[in-house]
This record gives sequence, C-alpha cells and structure tokens, in this order.
Amino acid sequence: MNPQPTARIEAGGAELVLDDARYPAIWLRDNCPCADCALPGSGQKLFGITDLPSPAELTIVEAAYGSGEVSVRFAPGGHTSRFAESWLRAHRLGANLPYDDRAEDAKVLWNRATFASADSLPGASFAQFARDESTRLGCLDALLTYGFFLLHDVAVRERAVLEVAETFGYVRETNYGSLFDVRVEQNPANLAFSSLPITPHTDNPYRDPVPTIQLLHCLANAAGGGESGLVDGFEAAAALREQNPDAFDLLARTPVTFRYADESADLAATNPMIDVDVLGRIKGIRFNNRSMRPLTGRLPVERVAEFYQAYRAFAELLYRPGAQLNFRLEPGDCVVFDNTRTLHARTGFTAGGHRHLQGCYADLDAAASARSILRRARAEAAQGSKSS
Ligand code: OGA
Ligand code: ZN
Ligand code: ZN
Repeated sequence: MNPQPTARIEAGGAELVLDDARYPAIWLRDNCPCADCALPGSGQKLFGITDLPSPAELTIVEAAYGSGEVSVRFAPGGHTSRFAESWLRAHRLGANLPYDDRAEDAKVLWNRATFASADSLPGASFAQFARDESTRLGCLDALLTYGFFLLHDVAVRERAVLEVAETFGYVRETNYGSLFDVRVEQNPANLAFSSLPITPHTDNPYRDPVPTIQLLHCLANAAGGGESGLVDGFEAAAALREQNPDAFDLLARTPVTFRYADESADLAATNPMIDVDVLGRIKGIRFNNRSMRPLTGRLPVERVAEFYQAYRAFAELLYRPGAQLNFRLEPGDCVVFDNTRTLHARTGFTAGGHRHLQGCYADLDAAASARSILRRARAEAAQGSKSS
C-alpha cells in the first residue's frame, strides 16, 4: 500500500503540492471540472480568463485529500473545485513534452529498408477496412505514424475515391473539384497530365492550409512504367538536421512562395519548406519544385546561394534511392497518405499506355478524430468485458 498522498498549500496559497508535484492556483482554477465551470460530456469551459481573479490575487485557502480526490477552495470568491488524483497526476506540469500527433516524436520515421517488401506495407482490402473496426484503426494508426496506408480491391469505378475518403473524413473540395483525374492529356499544363516521371513532392504547397491527406486511386495502369513512390519527408529532414544543422535551420526559417495560376485560379502561399513547432520538432514538409516561385522578401542577397545549397542538400536526401518506397498501383488500389509529411512520385511510362488515377484530398484532423473514436470504442469494449 502506498501511503495516502498529502495535499498541502504552499507559497502563501499560490500552489497546491500533492506529494512532490506542484500545481499553481490559477492553473487549478482554470481547469475546474465542476458543472458550473465546464459542460459535462465535452468539458467545454463556461468561462473565459477575464472571468477569473488575476493570478497574483488568487490563492488556495483550503486543500484536502480523500477517496482519490483533492478538493481545493479558492479566494477571492470561495469557489471549490474537486480534482481526481489520477487526473492531476496525468496532467502534472513539466513532466513530458506536450503530445502532438503531427510532430515528429509521434511518428515512426522510415526508409525503403523499413518495409520488407511491397506486400508488407500497411494496408488492407477495402471491404475489410470498411467492415472491420480494428482493420480501420490499424490503417489510421499507420497513416498517423508512418504517413500512409494502401487499400486494395476498391471498386474500379469513377468517383470511388470519394467513398474511400468518406470512410474516415471529409473530402476537401478545391478549384480542381471534389476529385481530379491523373491521365495523359493532349497539351498538358501540368506534368501530372503527361507520361513524364514526377520526382518526389508534396501536393499543393500553394494553398494555406495545404490539404493534409491525399488519396490516389488507380482505375487503369496498363502502361509500361508508371510505378509509384513514397518518401518520408520527416526522415529526410531529420537526416538533414543531423548532417547539416545550419541547412536545416535555413530551410525552417526561410519563407518560400509557392504558386499555381491558370485561367480560373491564382493560388499562392508563403511558408518554409520545413515546418518546426515551438519546441523545434519537425511537423510539416512542403516540397514541390514545380510550383516554387522566386525567393524574395527578407532573405539577404548574400544568403541566396546558401539557401540553394540547403535546398539542394534536402533534395538529395529526399531523392536517395534508399529513401524511396516503390510499388505499383494496380486497378482497385488506393494509396492514402499524409501530404504534410509523405512525398509521392511516379516513374515515367510509355506514352501509348493507358494509365488513369483519380485523386482527392481530405484532412488529418478528421482521420485523427476517427482514430480516437475507434480507440475509445475498443477501450470501452475491453472495460465492458472485464466488468461483466
Ligand atoms: C500528381 C501526382 C502521381 C502519379 O498528380 O500530383 O503526383 O502517380 N501524380 O501520377
Ligand atoms: Zn468550478
Ligand atoms: Zn502529386
């Protein structure tokens, strides 16, 4: 048996101390879970920061521990809050880096050698994915940790890609419509609509926000060539940081404009090629040689060559043969990937061969939500089978 925890008031009422963990009064007051302070169910707060006393004024005047709960009374105002001890321990300050499912420490970085063969890539048949929750959870886990998964046996039917996206989120409509066709056109305005190879890239860095998920569904691939490739942009960025930290910093700090313009659209967005969060963790990649526009802005002229050196070093890492996972999409296959991390590519194909993909965009927030709901259902089912 552990001894009973002790809940003490310290620092003249400015802090609660539960054994060795410290909780500032204002932090506790802001997180009061009572029904006057937060909606039951969603936990949505019912007050704003200006409704609370100032942090300098607020003190804890009483604290008690009992039955796994800590109760604290505040002054001024006399509000009482009750916190589960387990909740306080799970939320102790300064213990862990904040979890962010987009940042590199929530990911498993990979290269070609990580996967034994094209048959061992994360994925499932679409029928099983649609029917079976644990298969769907496995695929969404793969999307959020590896940055992709593959579905097989999707109907070889136009627009089926939209049905795939709707199983875990919402289609992001753009100026290209709800979906886009990738096939050879007579006078292509976009490399995608030719039979030429396309080097690894992320799509649409000229949007802000970029579409965070991309799907590519194969309707026909009777061409010689036309193989697909994926590259883990986070792995390459981490390698750049290791080998050449100055180059990494320059790419993380230099705004680059990407633009796409045709008769009916003029889209531009300015952001760095490597996004890092305030803790320095990699959390996004924008890489597209086709839509990159001239560097302008605050980069001093003297640093332009250095920028190009860094850009080139990053590209060389992304283009390493050992970085790229290669596979062939056959009719009915659909690859789903994180467009903020995973670059995609294709090899060139015989100009006469019939190759047709349909693609669409969706977003990671909905996929992450679908994963959380599936996890919750699994935990509740496990709990239910334990208690019954
Ligand atoms: C694209 C693209 C890949 C392919 O259209 O942006 O990357 O396999 N196409 O044709
Ligand atoms: Zn309250
Ligand atoms: Zn693309």
